Parts: sequence; structure tokens; C-alpha cells
Amino acid sequence: MTSNPDSSVPNITHRPRRLRRIPALRRMVKETNLSVNDLIYPLFVMEGEGKKVEITSMPGCYRYTPDLLLEEIAAVAQLGINAIALFPVISESKKDDTGSESYNPEGLVQQTVQAIKQAVPQIVVITDVALDPFTTHGHDGLIDENGTILNDPTVEVLVKMALSQAESGADMVAPSDMMDGRIGAIRKALDAEGYINVGILAYSAKYASAYYGPFRDALDSAPKFGDKKTYQMDAGNAREALKETFLDIAEGADIVMVKPALAYLDIIHQIRSETNLPVAAYNVSGEYAMIKAAAQQGWIDEKQVMLETLLSIKRAGADLILTYFAKEVAMILG
Ligand code: PBG
Repeated sequence: MTSNPDSSVPNITHRPRRLRRIPALRRMVKETNLSVNDLIYPLFVMEGEGKKVEITSMPGCYRYTPDLLLEEIAAVAQLGINAIALFPVISESKKDDTGSESYNPEGLVQQTVQAIKQAVPQIVVITDVALDPFTTHGHDGLIDENGTILNDPTVEVLVKMALSQAESGADMVAPSDMMDGRIGAIRKALDAEGYINVGILAYSAKYASAYYGPFRDALDSAPKFGDKKTYQMDAGNAREALKETFLDIAEGADIVMVKPALAYLDIIHQIRSETNLPVAAYNVSGEYAMIKAAAQQGWIDEKQVMLETLLSIKRAGADLILTYFAKEVAMILG
């Protein structure tokens, strides 16, 4: 009707942009925030002294010998990171078909955990319970002559492994193997031996994912035959993730985890809405490598993509995120 646009009042009652006008308003209405308390830092330990070796497919991540690992952990504790998840690189000469090195009381993990708890006692040490770093064939379980992964005999070894880690001072054990019944068996054994305060971070919905490639490079643990599809989950399954998670909770898990994170945000969301335990998500090696690679090409802004990725994992419902970006993020949030 009128020719003066300023005097015309369009019929818009709701203007969501009002709350986006200036940074302070945007901060006030931000629904999800990333905090250093959300972060768990996965770290790789190898035998030896005075060495750290960068992992080619994971730029910025290293395999550390225990002495340098202790320095790194002291530094990340200083940055406010509460917890680390420890993964060992085992020399070929110590691997066998049954992964017996995994429960050696003098093993690399056991000695390293003791040293960490002595040097940096305030940091929460989470140890990996799985056989793949220790087996010649690279699978997370014992195998029979046909290469079938044996469930119950594997659980027996996992129990020994978890007990030896608890004995070394681990605060939480984290079974990442996906054998049936292992959470219950480990909880029972820990309690029977008096480790009632050692927690279990259960990899509950762990998918058979191609995103683990760089991690297997880091550990030299790629399976020598076949794949992990008889124990890790199929990417198409969501209801099964709930089933696995409910079983782990019933068996005594303290924290449940979804892995990988980014391609499984719907699973994180569902588990968050249907359970009341803390939910962790593993922002895995391949997710890290993709961001690093694109950033190295100058194709994306690494810092912004990293923060957006982690925030989205939180928004989906994760309380905790295992991420190789933990140190970088802690430095930014610091
Ligand atoms: C195996 C294990 C894997 C990862 C953690 N524990 C790989 C696998 O299942 O083959 C992957 C972590 C990552 O990709 O960052 N027990």
C-alpha cells in the first residue's frame, strides 16, 4: 500500500534473529557448551626410553616411551584435562595367539599405569581391555583353528587383563572388545578381588567401522585375516545399540560409550534419551585424520571444524568425548 518501506510494518511476530544480534546475546542463549571437563585424551605408549614417534596418519599424535609419556601427562593435567585413556604398542616378539602379555604384571601397560599414578596421581587413568594389541593375528579375541573368534575363553583372558590393570592402579577399565558378557564377568572379578572402586567404561555400541584405520596403524594391530564383523556392530543397526547398552548397564557398567562418534550421532542421542548413565563418545582416529588432512591442504579451518565437531557430539547427548584433539581444545578453552 505504502511506498515507504520504513513505515510499513510487516506481519512478523517472531524474529529469532533478535537473539543472534550481538555476541553477548548469542552466548546467553547457547544451549550446549564445550568444557575441558568433557575431554578424555587417548595416548599411545611404547617400550623404550627418550623417544616419541609421530603417527603418520594421525598428525600431532605420538607413540611415547613411558618417560616422555609421563611428561606429556603432567602437561595435559596442567591444562585441566581430567582423564587419559592408555593404549599400548606391543612389540611383535611379545605377541602370541592368546595375547598372554596382556596380563603380565610387569607388562608395558601395568608398569606405565603405576608410574602415572605415582607421578600424576590426580589424573584419571583409563586402561583399554582388549586383546588386539597383544595377539599375533590382531583380533580382539582368541581364535580356533578355523579363525572363529571364541567368546567365553576370550572373556576369561579379559578378566585377567582387567584385574592386572586394577592391581597396577587403573581408575577405570574400558573393555573395547565387544565380547558378550564381559562387563558382568569383569565387574564380578573386580569386586571379588576387592577392587570395588575401579570403574568400568563400557564400549557398549562399538561399530565395525572403517574409521579405525589410523589407530590400527598407530598400534600396528590391523587384523591379519578377516574383519571384526562377528563381534563389532553393523553400521545399519540402531536398536541393537540400545540392546547392547542395556546389557552393559545391567552387567554393571559405570559409563557407556558409543564409537565412532560422528557417523553415529543418532545413536548417541538415543542412548542419552533412554538411559541415565553418563554417555561417552569416541571421536575416533579416522575422524581426527580427516580433519587434519583437509586442514593440511588448506581446505578447511582446522580449529573451527574441530570445535564444531566436538560441540555437535555433545549436543547429540555425549557427556564425555574421547578425542585426539583433547590437548588442542584444552589449550583453546584454557
Ligand atoms: C580395539 C580398538 C580399536 C580402537 C580402540 N580400541 C580399533 C579396533 O576395534 O580395531 C579404535 C580407536 C580409534 O580409531 O581411534 N580394541
